[in-house]
Amino acid sequence: AQKVIFDTDPGQDDAVALLAALASPDEIDILGIVTVAGNIPLDLTTKNALKLLELANRIEVPVHAGCAKPFGRTLVTAEHVHGKTGLDGPDLPEPQIAAKERHGVDFLVETLRAHPPGTVKLLCLGPLTNVALALAKAPDVAARIQEIVLMGGGCFEGGNITPTAEFNIYVDPEAASAVFRSGAAITVLPLDVTHQMRSTKQRIAAFEGLGNKAGAAVAAMLSFSERFDVEKYAWEGAPLHDPCVTAFLLAPEIFEARPVNVEIETGSELCRGMTVVDYWGVTARPQNARWVRSGDAEAFFRLLTERVARLP
Ligand code: BDR
Ligand code: CA
Repeated sequence: AQKVIFDTDPGQDDAVALLAALASPDEIDILGIVTVAGNIPLDLTTKNALKLLELANRIEVPVHAGCAKPFGRTLVTAEHVHGKTGLDGPDLPEPQIAAKERHGVDFLVETLRAHPPGTVKLLCLGPLTNVALALAKAPDVAARIQEIVLMGGGCFEGGNITPTAEFNIYVDPEAASAVFRSGAAITVLPLDVTHQMRSTKQRIAAFEGLGNKAGAAVAAMLSFSERFDVEKYAWEGAPLHDPCVTAFLLAPEIFEARPVNVEIETGSELCRGMTVVDYWGVTARPQNARWVRSGDAEAFFRLLTERVARLP
């Protein structure tokens, strides 16, 4: 199985990404979950990660809390999207398990150093604060990371928190910039592809119809997300952003990607956190990421439903 560390701020869509991975131990070996402030403050993202491990009956997976805010910015959160708990929708019990003592960034560094170079992937579903700090504290780990697969940014679809910025990159653009300049192999699942993966009544009903606790929880999460997104975009259904990262790991063949150069706007207030993507190769800037532009939504939802079916 592929060894991974999740870096996440759950969030309903983070939750679905984690649940699908927790249901796939043959393919995905989760060495740990590191939490970050993003959708909601750190204490809540950590609590939500613990709740999800209990729901999936995978309480052996360690959770380490990471950074509570970006270094150079005030924290921006998204309760207007995810609700006050960050995981509004299902009624999950207060967790009985606790996060580990060690800081998430130390866990990242020590875990990457403890495994042979090129064998551990980082799956990033929130602002990139933790990864940037790990790279700053321990520059040797950049070369040890097999790949960073992250949800963030947008090119053809514009932004979702400002006209030009996607939330994860917007919250900590300096961190994102450091990650894209680190030399590590990066695959990006941006709004360009996540906006194609939209829940419909039928797709939500399929999770509900699984008859297990996890299926009911996912259906409740997706119904909650619709409340906001359907009004905002006037689409049927809400986009499922972060689960694209898990799906990319499990079934890369359902996506289309190409190598590009990505730079992050950190200077301007108007375009803060914009991912400037040289999609057409009009500069000589070096390629530093694979940009996923599209994917097969039917195959994506079939995969997620089939995985969530395996959970309690
Ligand atoms: C991203 O922002 C968060 O609100 C979601 O969890 C996702 O990671 C989408 O822009
Ligand atoms: Ca997220």
